[in-house]
Amino acid sequence: MEIVTLGRTGVNVSRISLGTWSYGGPNMAGKNQPAGWGGQTDEDSKNALRKAYASAINHWDTADVYGDGHSEKVIGSMWDEIPRRDIFVATKVGWDMGPYSHWYHPEHMRTNMERSLKNLNTNCVDLMYLHHCNFGKQEEYFDDAIDVVKRFQEEGKTRFIGLSDWFLDKIMNYIDRVNPDIIQPYRNVIDDTYASSGLKDYVDTYNVGICFFSPIKHGLLTGKYTSPATFERGDFRTTVKGFANQTMIDKMQTNKTKLEIQFSDHSQPVMHGLVDALLTDAPTGCVLLGQRNEDQVKVAAQLGEPLSNEDAKWVQDLYR
Ligand SMILES: NC(=O)c1ccc[n+]([C@@H]2O[C@H](COP(=O)([O-])OP(=O)(O)OC[C@H]3O[C@@H](n4cnc5c(N)ncnc54)[C@H](OP(=O)(O)O)[C@@H]3O)[C@@H](O)[C@H]2O)c1
Repeated sequence: MEIVTLGRTGVNVSRISLGTWSYGGPNMAGKNQPAGWGGQTDEDSKNALRKAYASAINHWDTADVYGDGHSEKVIGSMWDEIPRRDIFVATKVGWDMGPYSHWYHPEHMRTNMERSLKNLNTNCVDLMYLHHCNFGKQEEYFDDAIDVVKRFQEEGKTRFIGLSDWFLDKIMNYIDRVNPDIIQPYRNVIDDTYASSGLKDYVDTYNVGICFFSPIKHGLLTGKYTSPATFERGDFRTTVKGFANQTMIDKMQTNKTKLEIQFSDHSQPVMHGLVDALLTDAPTGCVLLGQRNEDQVKVAAQLGEPLSNEDAKWVQDLYR
């Protein structure tokens, strides 16, 4: 597995890092919003974690809200088999309002920080993200959110501070004021605003660590679907339009064949094309690939070598 230094943090992690959203299982959030993943067993999750450790995939990403803490608990249950110090553990706070009427209430952030430490069976996480950039219409919750997360760092509850969002323009709006050690934006070859948002320039200029989430758009880009997919209640993929769109599914199948031909000398041509294209312009970055079971970790372990500029452009053009 290729290793990368996450910018000025100086921390070395695997280029292909592990996303554990699915380990929380299916769940609902807010007003009946599907927010989890169906069809996950703890046995699969734990076997994936074992295989990840054996494959030197040493950066595991979770959040307080993944299965309402269940994903964190699964990770926290592994430390009698896997040395805690060998894994860079990242979690997040912000999508759980608790009893309050807005996100980032200081008391609830503290409650969830303590809960995350307990779930993860550790006294300090390596990275705590602000999970999103919704700080109120007048940004009225911003100062508190930053203050609290910086206190977590001073108190030794997190080593580093991160900032995340699905929308890169929102990240850009707050990036100077947050000055995060690590940024976690949404990025895959079909939904890619990394350069156009200005984030790439910022990351390169200030030597910031960057971790791209949903690199294969939750599995949709792999071309493994032949018809519209249905998912169980509580699976957020029911809300992702592409999974129900036959035209999109057909296009992903066609592109899959093209990737198989283009990267026929690689053991995983499709995943290599999709995932490793994201590493080409990100010398301080990794991808957070969701790996639900041992087999998916085995595939992930064969990835991580950035495509050449020419190949990356070829892949991006294919999905444009
Ligand atoms: N900060 C944020 O707001 C945010 C948001 C989303 C995600 N994330 C993080 O990023 C991680 C990854 O994102 P993601 O889970 O949304 O999506 P992803 O990494 O794009 O897709 C992962 C899914 O693709 C399928 N898959 C994995 N390997 C495969 C392979 N070799 N062949 C075919 N299918 C494969 C699996 O689902 P199936 O087996 O069910 O098909 C897996 O759960 C999350 O786990 C989480 O840690 C963060």
